[in-house]
Amino acid sequence: MSGLTILAFLAVTAAGVSSSETSDCSYLSLLTHLNLIQTNSSMSIMRPVKNWTTTTLVYLDMVLYGILEVDEMSQTVTTHIQTQMKWRNEFLRWNSSNFCEIKTLTVPRKMLWVPDVAIQEDTSDTGSIQNSPLLTLTNDGLVIANGRQRLTTTCQFNLYLFPFDTQRCRITFSSMNYDAESMKLSTFNSEATLSLVSEQIMITQGEWQLLNMTIIYFSFDIQNVSQSRLIYTVFIMRKPMLYVINLIVPLLYFLILDLASFFIRGEKLSFKVTVLLSISVLLLILQDMLPSTEDKLPLMASFCVSVFTLVGLSILETMLMDFLLGLDDYCGNKAQNAVNSQEVEIQLEGNSHKDPSAAEERGQVSPVMKPSEGELLMLILEEVKVARQETGRQVKDDRKPGRYARLAQIIDSVYFFLYFLTIATYLMYMNVEWLGSYLSNNKE
Ligand SMILES: *[C@@H]1O[C@H](CO)[C@@H](O)[C@H](O)[C@H]1NC(C)=O
Repeated sequence: MSGLTILAFLAVTAAGVSSSETSDCSYLSLLTHLNLIQTNSSMSIMRPVKNWTTTTLVYLDMVLYGILEVDEMSQTVTTHIQTQMKWRNEFLRWNSSNFCEIKTLTVPRKMLWVPDVAIQEDTSDTGSIQNSPLLTLTNDGLVIANGRQRLTTTCQFNLYLFPFDTQRCRITFSSMNYDAESMKLSTFNSEATLSLVSEQIMITQGEWQLLNMTIIYFSFDIQNVSQSRLIYTVFIMRKPMLYVINLIVPLLYFLILDLASFFIRGEKLSFKVTVLLSISVLLLILQDMLPSTEDKLPLMASFCVSVFTLVGLSILETMLMDFLLGLDDYCGNKAQNAVNSQEVEIQLEGNSHKDPSAAEERGQVSPVMKPSEGELLMLILEEVKVARQETGRQVKDDRKPGRYARLAQIIDSVYFFLYFLTIATYLMYMNVEWLGSYLSNNKE
């Protein structure tokens, strides 16, 4: 009897299974087979392993869709990422040949256990995460969860070479609750594939260019609890052209203008002050771009400040020049006043001596002697010669620089020479520091 009942039971179950397996090719039969029709809360609660000591291996692939924003001031990067997680659920397998070759099945995300993976550097609000409401199951027990996110991560920038800089930002995935024995993270696709896909798929890059993406995963110990971590390191390079046009080239022009102003005769001071003001506007712009929390001062800032200082020094030198020339004028005027007064006296004396005699001569000569035209011309010539000699002497007196003017000229020449040398050396140094690193980055 017992044998019969067992046989009958087996027959019934066999008939039941076969009826469900050779079914109507609907998902319903598969769901029934997998026991997912009723709300089966245990499936969403427990980690889907039969033996608790089994580690769940979670494959997490991340693809970068875009670099939306890089904020140097708050040291954050906003990216658009797509993630795909895959893991095995030991309870959800089926033989596809029994279910009309159904190989994949989608179920609501809430029905199954999902790894609690989070990004450590994440500072974005939860509203920016868009997880797919469905999970995909495959017939060999693999569960696939897709999600995309507008991700804002903190990233420590090294702005020393700004705007020729390359930044390295890490995106660290780890489980919030499970230790490394329960859950391990790794990637499904290789590092090369993921970075290639990211490079090809990337739509919005803005001023940044994705150079490379590297992936490492390891177990990290915190207070004797080992935790699995998966770190994506994203290398992005700034496209420097806009900054070169907006900041560096104008600064160079201002330097050249300042150098050229040494050749201005006359009023230089207001011109140089204008140049200084223009540079200070550029400094203000720079201040808005770079954070002040930098240990190593960016080269760009020191470049700006150096140019500012150089032009400032050159203004001081111009002031010194003005002062010396003023001093010279003052002393010269004093001397000349003395000389002039003497000359005037002498001339007056001379005039008083000569004039009557000349008048007499003319008075006498003109009516009596009636000189020929040739003699008249000779007289005029002599007068002209004397006049020319006198004027020549006066001009020499005016042009002869005083002590201070000569000192000013020497200082001006020496300063110009040193100034030019300093600027040339400094520009060479900047060139080596900046472009050298930029080109070496480009080669990589
Ligand atoms: C569970 O896994 C551990 C380690 O693999 C093994 O030693 C143990 O026998 C397993 N238990 C059962 C009931 O299969």
